[in-house]
Amino acid sequence: MKRIRTMTITLAIAALSAVGVWSASGDAYAETETEDRPVIKVPRGGGRAAFERHGCITCHMPDGRGGQNEGGYGADLRVTPLTEDQVAFIITYGRTSKGMPAFKGLIDEETISLLAKYVKEDLRLKK
Ligand code: HEC
Repeated sequence: MKRIRTMTITLAIAALSAVGVWSASGDAYAETETEDRPVIKVPRGGGRAAFERHGCITCHMPDGRGGQNEGGYGADLRVTPLTEDQVAFIITYGRTSKGMPAFKGLIDEETISLLAKYVKEDLRLKK
């Protein structure tokens, strides 16, 4: 009889501390939600989303600086001398011999225009 009561108490303590642990981790989670979130500096959606979704960032880097990759040397889009129309043309037909793929048929025309505008207006290094 005594043994059973001791066990009940032990179980009750275990249950209580489990609740304690649970609420403590609950607090930690809440903190993560508000304070540890990465600061998103670039606006979501539109050209930015397309630039990420279609893999431009793999060769041109998230900020467009480009660099060496398996395909070739990704152009620095921040300083491209091309006009917006020419940028759209390159995205459409690529420069396949140099490692820039053609996205015709993979990205619709409207999104290509959006990407060209994004390259010229948002990635561009501001003077
Ligand atoms: C597989 C790697 C790769 C991917 C993916 C890629 N590019 Fe390129 N891109 C390149 C390379 C390499 C060049 C440089 C070609 C050259 O030397 O002329 C280039 C050149 C360009 C140029 C011409 C810039 C200039 O000034 O001549 C534009 C514009 C461009 N890329 C936009 C994009 C966009 C937008 C995407 C996403 C839809 C994209 N690229 C995806 C590799 C890539």
